[in-house]
Amino acid sequence: MAKVYVDAQAYRALEKGAMIIFKKGVIRVDGEIKPGDIVEVYSRGGKFLGKGFANPNSNIMVRLVTKERDVEVGKELFKERIRKANEYRKKVLGCNKVYRMVYGEADYLPGLIVDRFNDIAAIQISSAGMERFKLDVAEAILEVEPEIETIFEKNTGRARRREGLPEIERVLLGKEKYRTIIKEGKAKFIVDMRGQKTGFFLDQRENRIALEKYVKPGMEVLDVFTYTGGFAIHAAVAGAEKIIAIDKSAQAIKQARENAKLNGVEDKMEFIVGSAFQEMERLIKEGRKFDIVILDPPAFVQHEKDLKNGLRAYFNVNYQGLRLLKDGGILVTCSCSQHVDMQLFKDMIIAASAKAGKFLKMLEPYRTQAPDHPILMASKDTEYLKCLFLYVEDMK
Ligand SMILES: C[S@@+](CC[C@H](N)C(=O)[O-])C[C@H]1O[C@@H](n2cnc3c(N)ncnc32)[C@H](O)[C@@H]1O
Repeated sequence: MAKVYVDAQAYRALEKGAMIIFKKGVIRVDGEIKPGDIVEVYSRGGKFLGKGFANPNSNIMVRLVTKERDVEVGKELFKERIRKANEYRKKVLGCNKVYRMVYGEADYLPGLIVDRFNDIAAIQISSAGMERFKLDVAEAILEVEPEIETIFEKNTGRARRREGLPEIERVLLGKEKYRTIIKEGKAKFIVDMRGQKTGFFLDQRENRIALEKYVKPGMEVLDVFTYTGGFAIHAAVAGAEKIIAIDKSAQAIKQARENAKLNGVEDKMEFIVGSAFQEMERLIKEGRKFDIVILDPPAFVQHEKDLKNGLRAYFNVNYQGLRLLKDGGILVTCSCSQHVDMQLFKDMIIAASAKAGKFLKMLEPYRTQAPDHPILMASKDTEYLKCLFLYVEDMK
């Protein structure tokens, strides 16, 4: 087994509980490493720090799996971790049949995401190491949660390409099934695992439910970046009179329409396939104003180097959103960019409100991802979602 030696900074981070070793923190490698190999990690002075999956081609060179020398990295270990992760969701968080069952390194299962939608588990693997144990992991999920009958492999996306892994989307084990209906707050959704990510953005669940209490009969709502209708359907079932929902994906909007029908709210919803920026500009020109505007864009900052451009995109979209609000309206604004922390996000929205001539009041404490996407205190990478509920008044 190859040995990887890390510098003092990486060593301190690991001691505090981090599970990731970046290439820049590696000072020496003894032996040859192929993507997905298990390696031992040592401090500069030779102290054993753990074992993990390595990928010499990736910016994240090692993802620690265990800090114990004697623990064998294999099915039994993964099964035990999946069992613990599942138990945490069910016993501590009170999750039932729809939840994120495994959230990568926050559950000490680096590179593995498992989203449960009733009797289907959608798995997403983003590390070459975990890929080698794919079947073991799938079998372990079925053993831990016998109500699950299908393991759907949703192995697509940028992270996989970065690790040099092929894109695969299929039922891996069990019954041939990839669609189901879930309930969330007052709303119902069809989840089709062939959609974006694992089919549904479970991380926004609590924020979508929180929206319901601000919706009053007669309100007009604009949901920008709606995907399959997430916030928009909640607004509709909570009593809004007219809802416009925009997304650039025709496939997502097709499903959003199905979701509207499923909830019996299709008559008050207008769906638009198009660019958020262009459609919002058009609505501004038409002089439209809404009681609630929701902005849940994709991650505009994928890498630290994109921070400046990404923040500009957040600024532009929020500036547009603010101009579309009535005096005394509500802005729900989100960022799922891990590199944009809450302070940067706040600074951006303050600048956008100043330009739009608006005062902002926080309606809710700082909101983040749903708790079944736990934030590991020592690992910045596990914290990514920001969501602000803001009361917006005109500066007069
Ligand atoms: C984070 S998801 C939104 C999730 C949604 N709010 C929910 O609760 O399910 C971001 C969405 O933005 C859409 N999108 C990305 N770029 C866009 C653009 N320029 N204009 C409109 N939609 C865009 C994607 O298709 C995706 O559905």
